[in-house]
Amino acid sequence: MEDLKKKISKIRENFSNDLDKVSSEQELENVRIKYLARNAEISNLMHEIKNLSKEEKVIFGPLLNELKTNSEKLFELKRNQIVELKLKSAQEKKQNFDVTAYKFSALKPSLHPYTHVIEQIENIFISMGYKIADGPELEDDFYNFEALNIPKDHPARDIQDTFWLKLPHKLMRTHTSPVQIHSMKKQKPPLAIFATGRCYRNEATDASHDFVFMQAEGMLIGKNISMSNLFATIKVVLQMIFERENLDIAMRPSYYPFVEPGVDVAMRCPFCTSGCSVCKKSTWIEIMGAGLVHPNVLKHCDIDPEEYSGFAFGFGLTRLVMLKYGINDIRLLNSGKIEFLEQFK
Ligand code: PHE
Repeated sequence: MEDLKKKISKIRENFSNDLDKVSSEQELENVRIKYLARNAEISNLMHEIKNLSKEEKVIFGPLLNELKTNSEKLFELKRNQIVELKLKSAQEKKQNFDVTAYKFSALKPSLHPYTHVIEQIENIFISMGYKIADGPELEDDFYNFEALNIPKDHPARDIQDTFWLKLPHKLMRTHTSPVQIHSMKKQKPPLAIFATGRCYRNEATDASHDFVFMQAEGMLIGKNISMSNLFATIKVVLQMIFERENLDIAMRPSYYPFVEPGVDVAMRCPFCTSGCSVCKKSTWIEIMGAGLVHPNVLKHCDIDPEEYSGFAFGFGLTRLVMLKYGINDIRLLNSGKIEFLEQFK
């Protein structure tokens, strides 16, 4: 009897001493394993009840129960303390985090070539009264195809290999033309917008193709807008982008379901006069698709084609950036390679 009593008070004392010393989660776990887990000291003592006589059980039953519940309570209290301490020290670390303490003196800051070109072109369009617009990269069939006069089963859908999502009608936009629809749905004409952004096509990658690339889109809707307005705008913009006072441009008929008539625009190679590797010896560089906004597109946006007309154009911003800086592998642009990026001051 006395033995058991001694045992109980010894365990109580040891447990309390050990618990006092705990200052980490690991030490706490060690105490649990030593005293409270199955086959640990307190649990083993509880098993001894069944070997006691009836009278002894009356005395030791409550004592042992008290030891168990009390130890568990103390253990929980300690656990809360440890968790709180941990949170507090994490917070302190965060508060004392000094961003200026980390200086990568070897790195020279630079902007991504996209950023340089987007800034330059946006400023040109803003100076001409255009508003900068944008739209989501995760698009709805309606905006990417349907409203752009590309109904289901239209062969033009096959030209743009599309990443379809498992959600109904959802896709990664294949071009920036859906921004035309978003803009016309948001604002009544007259309307002049310019947008840039990522586009996605499910294609194999090589030095000149990536499944994600950048496009730019421009659109102007008003009264009596004609091909000559389109021609003049594109010419001025290209002159400004390539910093040339005179840059010949040429238009050839082409087909895009959302414009009528549709054209492909080429410009005289800004890098040579008699043919080079950039223009593939032709002295012309195909630069964008354009045309007058198709009446069906206007109708989809509740704009009366009898009253309003407009032009739209779209070009590969990625291709333009590559042309401008003489970048020969498209994959460099998304690579995050410091040696490549730090060249663009
Ligand atoms: N969206 C077309 C493409 O991705 C380009 C384009 C835009 C053509 C606007 C005409 C008018 O190829």
